[in-house]
Amino acid sequence: TWSMKTFIKEETKKIKETIKEDKVILGLSGGVDSSVVAALLNHAIKAQLTCIFVDHGLLRKDEAKSVKEVFENEFKMNLVVVDAKERFLTKLKGITDPETKRKIIGTEFIRVFEEETKKLEDAKFLAQGTLYTDIIESGTKHAETIKSHHNVGGLPKDIKFKLIEPLNTLFKDEVRQLGKELGLSDEIVQRQPFPGPGLGIRILGDITEEKITIVQESDYILREEIKRYQQDSKIWQYFTVLTPIKTVGVKGDKRAYENVLAIRAVTSVDGMTAAFAHIPYEILEVISTRIINEVRGVGRVVYDITSKPPGTIEWE
Ligand code: XMP
Repeated sequence: TWSMKTFIKEETKKIKETIKEDKVILGLSGGVDSSVVAALLNHAIKAQLTCIFVDHGLLRKDEAKSVKEVFENEFKMNLVVVDAKERFLTKLKGITDPETKRKIIGTEFIRVFEEETKKLEDAKFLAQGTLYTDIIESGTKHAETIKSHHNVGGLPKDIKFKLIEPLNTLFKDEVRQLGKELGLSDEIVQRQPFPGPGLGIRILGDITEEKITIVQESDYILREEIKRYQQDSKIWQYFTVLTPIKTVGVKGDKRAYENVLAIRAVTSVDGMTAAFAHIPYEILEVISTRIINEVRGVGRVVYDITSKPPGTIEWE
């Protein structure tokens, strides 16, 4: 649109004046905000930007691959993909408490990110995908405080970089428009929210590689079918949750004793309140059948019909 074109032009000028010849680092999560910052900075200063993508092993199936595909191959950006799976898994071994999981994942994320930024010594700026709403919420006019609340982007307070937050005058829908204008696909700009701790809070109980695979595979099937039946625009967020509950069933002609998996899908405006999505039974049936048949370790599929409040969107 005209206004976005103007925004890009003016913002590009500002960014260039601020950055000059210096280098910028951006923590890229694959989410809408950081992806749009990446595209905008790439437009303004190209090779002066380096994006760091930390793969903590708790991402959706093919997530790291598609980030590489878009930002490295298509946009030709400097992208550092850090494979930190082992590290996170080791730290999380045997941990069952949700808040402890969050803490461990958050802390480890910062460590990995810091280590990577140290390798990029000459960088002076750190870019963040802070939106106007984030600033209002955190109660500061100036975005000098780094938002640490939700995103695993929460960064250490003693950071030596100068912050640059080119989206901090925009609302979410404007950020999506901007992303489109900069050439990002709908797949990215219309992306559903994904929590920083990732699948770590969608595996109830302790986290193992096997369980991660179950959640990744079932989530993949869910997303495929939601897309195939064009439900994605109607649902705000949707995912699967692996419970530690074992259930009896029959697979082939054998008794099976496998886990209960839940599907969570909600409608919402901002995630503060939510209602379970009224996905037609026929579609739920297809999803359930596919998950039971294709994902090893799942013995029963249930649909979560809890609203928020009192239920939260995530199960942990
Ligand atoms: P809840 O479960 O609190 O979720 O109803 C509301 C929204 O926030 C996301 N969420 C998180 N995002 N770190 C995040 O970055 C977290 O620890 C976290 N917990 C929940 C959730 O996916 C939903 O969009």
